[in-house]
Amino acid sequence: MSAALQHPLLDRRLILVTGKGGTGKTTVVASLALAAAQRGKRVIVIETGLDEHIPRLLAPNSGTAGYAGKTLLPGIDSMRIDPYEALAEYLSMKTGMRAPLHFVIRNPSFRQFMDATPGWRELITLGKIWQLEQSVDTKKRPLYDLLLVDAPATGHGLIFLEVPQVVASAVRTGTLHRNAEFVGTLLQDAQRTVLLPVALAEELPARETIELVARVRQKVGAPLACIVVNSVMPAPFPTGLENLDQLLGRLPQARQITGLPPLSAITRCAQHLRARFELNRRYVEMIHNETQLPVLTLPQIPHGIVSLSDLRVLAAALSRNRPVLPA
Ligand SMILES: Nc1ncnc2c1ncn2[C@@H]1O[C@H](COP(=O)(O)OP(=O)(O)O)[C@@H](O)[C@H]1O
Ligand SMILES: [Mg+2]
Repeated sequence: MSAALQHPLLDRRLILVTGKGGTGKTTVVASLALAAAQRGKRVIVIETGLDEHIPRLLAPNSGTAGYAGKTLLPGIDSMRIDPYEALAEYLSMKTGMRAPLHFVIRNPSFRQFMDATPGWRELITLGKIWQLEQSVDTKKRPLYDLLLVDAPATGHGLIFLEVPQVVASAVRTGTLHRNAEFVGTLLQDAQRTVLLPVALAEELPARETIELVARVRQKVGAPLACIVVNSVMPAPFPTGLENLDQLLGRLPQARQITGLPPLSAITRCAQHLRARFELNRRYVEMIHNETQLPVLTLPQIPHGIVSLSDLRVLAAALSRNRPVLPA
């Protein structure tokens, strides 16, 4: 098996990226897409929220991709699954009619009825993902090597994954039962699928991630391989000067070096950096210890994610695939 096939994430068919809003799910999805495309994989990024973010990140001038999808970069397609579009497509496949169904799904009374009906959005979205996973090109090869889903934020994200089981057990026979079973089987298949929680090395997101993993293990059974902890502060001082804060602290703090602020101010800055770094490290360790899952840390990009090259830094970190606890 080549090294390219041994990556715990990039050798899957389906990665469902989840986590609390603001932890960097979309950023991680975009970076994984770059890492996979760099390995020669054909990737589709699937957004499930109301807004699209991936086209803006990967191909800033491309406009939105919508349900029809769009190629953003060589090897990387993107789409947003709108549940109503997916429903129209599904129903038209079943009935052979297209235009009249679009008329039905735009009907306000139909929408009002559907908006009040729980579960169908998740099921139809997952059904579309399943269909994409099954799709082949003219040579009967899978259309995509990797499907990357920017799944709904935690909480709602788990309902997303629980729906197929609920439907399959509530509806015992028929097409709906079979469809829910196909989707449920894909979600539970550790060979093809992985659920990837994204966390931050801070109190609330760390706790929420630990709870998410416990709930997935108890109730959902979706395969977990590792956790991405995003925006981790890199070691604050250069190699050989790892204890710079302590060295500074030992100097007479009243000392003034020409052209520099008072030594006490420099020392406080260094101590602050150390404290921030240690805090991040504590939470990375906590996430690892309490979930017993390997942790892949992504560095904080000091100026934020402003260009494709920032995402490439994160993609390289994901490609290196060193499940790490910061030293
Ligand atoms: N590693 C990182 N370093 C710096 N900024 C980051 C990093 N990851 C994400 N961000 C920034 O954090 C914010 C939230 O990220 P985003 O991917 O939109 O989160 P989510 O999809 O979970 O809501 C964005 O402004 C993004 O640019
Ligand atoms: Mg997002």
